[in-house]
Amino acid sequence: PTAHIELDRRAVIAPVNRRTFGSFVEHLGRCVYDGLYEPGHPSANEDGFRMDVVELVRELGSSTVRYPGGNFVSGFRWEDSVGPREQRPVRRDLAWHSLEPNQVGLDEFAKWLKLTGSELMLAVNIATRGILPALDLLEYANHPSGTALSDARVANGSVEPHNVRMWCLGNEMDGPWQTGFMTAEDYGKIAARTAAAMKMADKSLELVVCGSSGSGMPTFGDWERTVLEHCYEHVDYISCHAYYQELDGDLGSFLASALDMDFFIDTVVATADHVGYKKRSDKKINISFDEWNIWYVKEHMEAEAADQSAKEWRYAPRLLEDKYSVADAVVVGNLLMTLLKRSDRVTSASLAQLVNVIAPIMTEPGGPAWRQTTFYPFSITSRLASGEVIRPVIQTPTYQTTRHGEAALVDAVATVDEDRAAVFLVNRDLTETAQITIDVRSLGSTRILEAVTLADADVYAKNTLEQQDRVTPFANASAVLADGVLRVELPPVSWTAIALH
Ligand code: AHR
Repeated sequence: PTAHIELDRRAVIAPVNRRTFGSFVEHLGRCVYDGLYEPGHPSANEDGFRMDVVELVRELGSSTVRYPGGNFVSGFRWEDSVGPREQRPVRRDLAWHSLEPNQVGLDEFAKWLKLTGSELMLAVNIATRGILPALDLLEYANHPSGTALSDARVANGSVEPHNVRMWCLGNEMDGPWQTGFMTAEDYGKIAARTAAAMKMADKSLELVVCGSSGSGMPTFGDWERTVLEHCYEHVDYISCHAYYQELDGDLGSFLASALDMDFFIDTVVATADHVGYKKRSDKKINISFDEWNIWYVKEHMEAEAADQSAKEWRYAPRLLEDKYSVADAVVVGNLLMTLLKRSDRVTSASLAQLVNVIAPIMTEPGGPAWRQTTFYPFSITSRLASGEVIRPVIQTPTYQTTRHGEAALVDAVATVDEDRAAVFLVNRDLTETAQITIDVRSLGSTRILEAVTLADADVYAKNTLEQQDRVTPFANASAVLADGVLRVELPPVSWTAIALH
């Protein structure tokens, strides 16, 4: 196919929000234990954190990190995970049928975030606990000193408050799999009361109320409306969660997953604004897309049902350790482009998750840490996107998909800063190279700083322990910029980033 793209630096959507590049660490499988925390590992620092993982997280460029769950949070007592380690209890985690040793908790995790340079986004358990434990956690985390819980934090070694800005009011409360899941009515009420109480302590907190766990949930739409009717005044964000996978060998539909994400965002924005209008409120509720990724959930469920050891209570079992292909990375790159395009209303997002569990970074105990294919589009976009997101006009052929209807073969987004710009592109064509021309005259760019592509003759190629660098991005030599026109060839099933000066 051939496609033509017009970029106009005046067609600004919104500033690039650094929080778009957030990620997620849950006490799940080997994300924390035997992932980012492994005291016996050769690269571990004095706190037991693997510095090879820290280096990769920095390279990934993840901004916020949502913690400690996920489904885990709905059975979590935060008090278990602070104070002297030898006194911390072992608990059963019902969400993931695992044992939780509580050797990493808020204070340790906050220390880890200092190493990675990321912002903490904390989830409270309002599924199986009430308002008071949430307020206690807030006092422990954020109050400077001179109260029972802030002094306990100081005594535990965290002298400075953690000053957490973003708080999630529970997790996926619409999901029947959630410990203590609720109807929209029940959740809306408890979320409103918890949020109001937390804001009595600190008006400047940014609170995220749970939206739907996916656009396919039977309650999608109604859930958002009902919940926001209860808490509109008290919260700042509503969450969206979405996971995609190739189903029934239908790669064409899978490559167009961004269309579902876009539909999801549109619908939630419309619903939130509808409630806002009904309330005659000037306030806008933004979206925290705080779980998104590729997840081969169907395959995991089948494997788990057949695995006897999955019925035992185990510490840090190998759960949800998806190995990602080139096609998966192209979809991840495209989903991130979609989040950027919706930066006007999606002002926070979290790739779920960060280490070992549906993650861009994998580790082996005592062994190496490496980058999955999906690592690259995320890290490169996080590094290159800056300034403002601009809306491209894309003339492209389309194709028919079973799941998402008509889809563009080529998708793109661009960002523009004072002295540089970046264009991100995907070619969804399964067999043909796309010939692209991009009118960049309005950007005033004269030079290509970098042009990289992720593609492979085998779209299912993956990076594994044995072949950690099987798939890496390569310089795209076809990119040329002359007379204000950028030309580039995009291989079939590929993701590309071009930085301009
Ligand atoms: O990210 C894995 C799980 O997916 C999370 O725990 C949950 O919130 C979602 O269902």
